[in-house]
Amino acid sequence: MPFRKFFDRSDKPSASAEPEAAEPEQEPSDEEFSGEAEAPPEHSDAVDWRARAAHVLPMGASTGSKRPAALYGADDALGPTHFSGAVGCRVFDVDGNEYVDCTMALGSVALGYAEPTVTRAVIDAATNGNVAALSDYREVELAERLCDVIPCAEMVQFLKTGAEATSAAVRLARAYTGRDVVIGCGYFGWHDWSSSAPGVPTGTTARYKVIPFDDVPALEAAVAAAGTELAAIIIEPVIERMPLPRWAARARELCDAAGAALIFDEVKTGFRLSTGGYQEHSKITPDLAAFGKAMANGYPLSAVVGKRALMEAARKTWISSTLASESTALAAAGAVLDWHEKADICDSLAAIGLELRESMNAVIKASGVGGVTVDGIDHMWLLRFDTPARERRFLELAAGQGVLFKRGAYNFPAIAHDNDIVQRIEAAANAAFIELREEEAS
Ligand SMILES: Cc1ncc(COP(=O)(O)O)c(C=O)c1O
Repeated sequence: MPFRKFFDRSDKPSASAEPEAAEPEQEPSDEEFSGEAEAPPEHSDAVDWRARAAHVLPMGASTGSKRPAALYGADDALGPTHFSGAVGCRVFDVDGNEYVDCTMALGSVALGYAEPTVTRAVIDAATNGNVAALSDYREVELAERLCDVIPCAEMVQFLKTGAEATSAAVRLARAYTGRDVVIGCGYFGWHDWSSSAPGVPTGTTARYKVIPFDDVPALEAAVAAAGTELAAIIIEPVIERMPLPRWAARARELCDAAGAALIFDEVKTGFRLSTGGYQEHSKITPDLAAFGKAMANGYPLSAVVGKRALMEAARKTWISSTLASESTALAAAGAVLDWHEKADICDSLAAIGLELRESMNAVIKASGVGGVTVDGIDHMWLLRFDTPARERRFLELAAGQGVLFKRGAYNFPAIAHDNDIVQRIEAAANAAFIELREEEAS
């Protein structure tokens, strides 16, 4: 498997795989980085970061999935909540403890944390001024490169988050068609148009219809009900399993027949399932698509991409953000694309994911713990527990063994998960499951 040792600087990376850094002698290295080197502002023996966070951050963390309750299942669960450094797939908490991370920051990182060529590109961009009166030339370069690798992309608009990119895609579809009704399946971020959370004005989602995943009759019924008002179908193409190809293909046919736009939310699948996302994998080409997460390996960048006619609807509506084209994230994505151009990163991610899934299945079976299964696909897999209590305890025990798994959602393989790391994950999970079995038996 290529790249397995990339983040272990003592081993030679695959010669064919690693893009050449502009100034290799200046690359940050694992040796330069250690959890201790980057000390938190105050050593946490004296600081309860969880309590301080709860006092000043209304949810306890600005990213919902990083709240203690989201990480482990309860606010008072045992386990690290704040990090001071991350490199490869290793995370150092504020006390200097090292963990192997299976979550990879909600899938926003597919190479590894602090990947040297990405970091170098970011440092160069920051050093030269991150923003200016003018657009960064990298915006044009990166847009051209995305048009080369994403099947539906003829034009690109950059934004910062997945939610912005999906919202922009829906806005473009509505502006282009002059219609309102959107049919959707998936999580598209926190914005009003697809949310029924408190605080969203009544009626906002009246023109947004939710359909179940991979259900052709439900899709057809929703399209029939929308009639001539259908602006778009937006789908998250992979939700814990691959859909039947017929589902997305039928969505394509129905959009064509109705004169509506088909939108793929490739925020998770882009640069992971395939570089160009589910559309590259399935050969079903949408009109618009949203990308984010792994595209910039942890730097804030998203993009709405699509057919020229649809994208040009941007001229009659308004989609813009002050920092949409800031340089560092564009540079990071450029470095990520270098990787994808040199080798099949997504194949490697799948191979690593398969190995991890097989390891998990083996240790679960060997431990004799019941009520837990391995789900998902190789590129993004999850542990599913029958009870929240069992899940919480396993996550606490695994953290105690030095491995962080995602609660109730995907673990994401990264190139940084090399053979040694896979073995560490397996050993830690094995110990945690055995401890769990013993606790449950007592
Ligand atoms: C499929 C999908 N779309 C959109 C989003 C929203 O992205 P962000 O959190 O960057 O706004 C997410 C986030 O997890 C996602 O998984």
